[in-house]
Amino acid sequence: MKQILIVQSSPRGSESASRTLAGKVGARLKAQYPGASVVERDLVRDKVPHLDEAILRAMATRDPVEAETLKDALYLSDQLTEELLASDLLVIASPMWNFGIPSSLKAWIDHVVRAGKTFNYAGAGVEGLVKGKKAVLVLASGGVFSEGPWKPWDTVEPYLRQILGFIGIDDVQTVRAEGMNIPSLAIYAVPNGEKAVETLAI
Ligand SMILES: Cc1cc2nc3c(=O)[nH]c(=O)nc-3n(C[C@H](O)[C@H](O)[C@H](O)COP(=O)(O)O)c2cc1C
Repeated sequence: MKQILIVQSSPRGSESASRTLAGKVGARLKAQYPGASVVERDLVRDKVPHLDEAILRAMATRDPVEAETLKDALYLSDQLTEELLASDLLVIASPMWNFGIPSSLKAWIDHVVRAGKTFNYAGAGVEGLVKGKKAVLVLASGGVFSEGPWKPWDTVEPYLRQILGFIGIDDVQTVRAEGMNIPSLAIYAVPNGEKAVETLAI
């Protein structure tokens, strides 16, 4: 294990359950792999812009002259993509917002899911290029989504697993702090997540 990448997306600072749990994952990994570097990509502290016209044009062009003119537009996307490719383990910490991920995290995904870098069109399908890596999803939600009547409302875990699978990351585990907004469950949400961190196969 050479590099671990932790992507943070909750703006709630020390009150954030996903940050607290991701911190536990980070602490466990540092103890387990003392030689590994832990890179934190904090999407709240360092905002990642949404894709704009110049970035899309730079991503799409096949004209080397135009690519050269537009290369500054891809600076951040290249940096984020290389950071991901250089990591052996990806930890994504995400709150559930309106049954999905925050747009800051979606913006990061839009920058790193790159044809020719993290996936290739192959015949009639696609081939993920981010091979041999593991991912841990650290998810916090007001309600309960791992089971029960609200499970189908969760677009966070299914989407993250789908998009990670698309770029080649199939070894994905999830830990949750759920029920954060349900008074009878809230006090157990983070401790239950912390117990789950101890059992992760990482
Ligand atoms: C804008 C916003 C939207 C939210 N939407 C949902 C939701 O759709 N379902 C849910 O169960 N909880 C929802 N919540 C509650 C959060 O998921 C919960 O507070 C969680 O702990 C947030 O993660 P964090 O503690 O890491 O910030 C929402 C909270 C905010 C601020």
